[in-house]
Amino acid sequence: MNMFAVGLARKYDGVVDFELEKPGIRGPKDVLVKVLQAGIDGTDRDMIRRQQKDIAEGEEYIVLGHEAIGRVVEVGLGVENLKVGDMVVPTVRRGCNECPSCLNNQSDMCSTGFYKERGIHKLHGYFTEYFVDEEQYLVPVPHSMVHVAVLTEPLSIAEKAISQMQHIQSRLPWGCFHPEHSIGQPGWGACKKALVIGAGPIGFFGAALLRLADIATYFIEVVTEDSPKVCRMQEMEAHYIDGKGITSEALVKRMGNPDIVFEASGVSELALSLLPVGARNGVYIFTGIPRGESQVCMDGDLLIRQMVRTNQIVIGSINSNRSHFESALGDMVHMDKRFNHILDRVITHVYPLKDYKEALAPNPNSLKVIFEMEKL
Ligand code: BGC
Ligand code: ZN
Repeated sequence: MNMFAVGLARKYDGVVDFELEKPGIRGPKDVLVKVLQAGIDGTDRDMIRRQQKDIAEGEEYIVLGHEAIGRVVEVGLGVENLKVGDMVVPTVRRGCNECPSCLNNQSDMCSTGFYKERGIHKLHGYFTEYFVDEEQYLVPVPHSMVHVAVLTEPLSIAEKAISQMQHIQSRLPWGCFHPEHSIGQPGWGACKKALVIGAGPIGFFGAALLRLADIATYFIEVVTEDSPKVCRMQEMEAHYIDGKGITSEALVKRMGNPDIVFEASGVSELALSLLPVGARNGVYIFTGIPRGESQVCMDGDLLIRQMVRTNQIVIGSINSNRSHFESALGDMVHMDKRFNHILDRVITHVYPLKDYKEALAPNPNSLKVIFEMEKL
């Protein structure tokens, strides 16, 4: 039996649809999953725009899509914790199997770079009807979160970035004078201030985690205040700063120096111009991936001087592992409760897979666009 799929082709340009043979169980740990919903993100659109075709040897196509929820339809004989009918979210990266990180379930920190990623590097993704993967890469979804679980992957990216930041900031276990605000406590952010750059899905989820920890959060966007991106942020009481022409001086005047900067715009000129705004002992996290080749001019002496004199840390964070998917599913329950079912409103557009050309076109008025293969 063949199934419908959307992705990139070796021989044709643009985004294309094609038929693929429906996959089957190959080993005892394999699980066959029917895709119910799959999310679209900047990486998909960028791969299409740049025709970045990382197709496995011997294959003609790569199926795009790396954010999904599906239902288990068949399990291999050695599958222990999943059964037919269970709802699952698949992770993205498949480790190199050589480095200590990958051998310890942390392929997001792979040190060889020989990993693969579903829907991105060498492996088929989820813009199709079925996929097979081992049980270890499938995270069960609690019943109450099934309707928004397609958002687990982008949230897991923010979970990883924030948890890296917490590891690093455990260099200041006291943080402020309130022991109840120390890192690891639920309200660890209460005396802190954060800046989120960009209010797309990753910026939104970064802000949601910061707000759950009671951090005073400001965000910069260039879209107007009536856009759904800005509205969702404001529903969590994050404060809007118009990003057009913003300077680091104007920003500090408005909000003071942030203890945490969460960069999710991928606009390098803006991102780098704001490097000097951090508070003493602050952390600046890069999660956005700039896709072009921009030349940026800045006062390097000022930047380095300030970073040294104020113990600044800059980190980059990519991908996420199973533990971050699990935390994401847990935190979604809290977000849903605290911010009045906000996750339902993060999904702004739903398309059937056959309308992929329309769905994948850039849409500045969207927050999260998804495909629905089967009604949940
Ligand atoms: C995905 C990550 C992935 C990265 C780079 C992002 O869109 O969410 O899981 O590691 O792209 O390929
Ligand atoms: Zn590795």
